[in-house]
Amino acid sequence: MYAQMVKSTGQGVKSRDEMSAEERDFQDKVDADIRIEPRDWMPEGYKKTLIRQIGQHAHSEIVGQLPEGNWITRAPTLERKMILLAKVQDEAGHGLYLYCAAETLGVTRDEMTEMLLSGKMKYSSIFNYPTLTWADIGAVGWLVDGAAIMNQVPLQRTSYGPYARAMVRICKEESFHQRQGYDIMMRMARGSEAQKRMAQDALNRFWYPSLMMFGPSDANSVHSEQSMAWKIKINTNDELRQKFVDQTVPQAEYLGLSVPDENLKWNEEKGGYDFSEPDWDEFFDVLRGAGPGNTQRLTDRQKAWEDGAWVREGLMAHAEKKAARKVAAE
Ligand code: 3HC
Repeated sequence: MYAQMVKSTGQGVKSRDEMSAEERDFQDKVDADIRIEPRDWMPEGYKKTLIRQIGQHAHSEIVGQLPEGNWITRAPTLERKMILLAKVQDEAGHGLYLYCAAETLGVTRDEMTEMLLSGKMKYSSIFNYPTLTWADIGAVGWLVDGAAIMNQVPLQRTSYGPYARAMVRICKEESFHQRQGYDIMMRMARGSEAQKRMAQDALNRFWYPSLMMFGPSDANSVHSEQSMAWKIKINTNDELRQKFVDQTVPQAEYLGLSVPDENLKWNEEKGGYDFSEPDWDEFFDVLRGAGPGNTQRLTDRQKAWEDGAWVREGLMAHAEKKAARKVAAE
């Protein structure tokens, strides 16, 4: 049933005259920044969009553990290993808060996971790129978590209460993640020539995929207009991408690294950088499942889901037995 719900809803925003009385009341609440809570009436499209976005976000947190988990055993020091371990565990926690937020809309975590595994639900494109060197772990923390924060700080003000509240804690932890990534980059960039080359190579490979995290350009964004009217999204994809570039370029300069973009130039008039767009054909290929790591990521998630079946079954059997005992006692 929910496979139907996550299909694109991009059909344009209704004018006030086209809305039913319930829809108008709902929109008034949203416009007045009154949070929508699970028991409140909400348009079906609002619910669908939230399930799609929160579910995709939750899956991204879970799949995002894979490229970093890959480096836990190879972290260069005990301290780095502990930090990375803590970060990867945080991502699991973020996935759980978000699955719980989505569950308040009537979809189960099992349903969402099945949709991920069957390809009906997406996860962030970025996690289909491999982490080839230790510097990539620095670049992921700095750029990927940095882009995630840029997108997620405004989501603390999103209109749906459970989602907004989950984002508050997630953002706090993501900023620690971004700092640990930048710290790795700083050590690499100030290390030997070989380490500096690794840091530059990581920046070269992760720059454009990080820009893609914000979604297609505004002209090609299917959902932005309606999602912004409902305050599910607070900013457009291009606005956040611009903010990310403006914030990150001085950080790269401080590291003594070059952003791999010949067109990058400060634009005094707009008060931001001009920069090259990512390769959007590559982005849509990754979304279609043809990125460098899509098959591996889904195979790994499928295996984890199957390996964990006995735990889920055991927990359910325990819960059912407990519920039966309670009924018998009443
Ligand atoms: N990766 C995969 N799919 C993407 C994408 C990306 N980077 N950007 C856009 N898409 C998909 C959309 O899901 C949509 O497809 P659908 O209709 O089949 O669902 C399509 O491309 C069109 O894009 P739109 O701009 O219309 O989509 P949205 O309005 O949903 O905007 C978004 C995309 C900005 C990513 C928005 O969904 C969003 O803000 N999501 C919440 C944040 C999130 O999911 N972040 C994941 C980042 S990773 C992370 O946080 C892990 C941390 O540990 C680093």
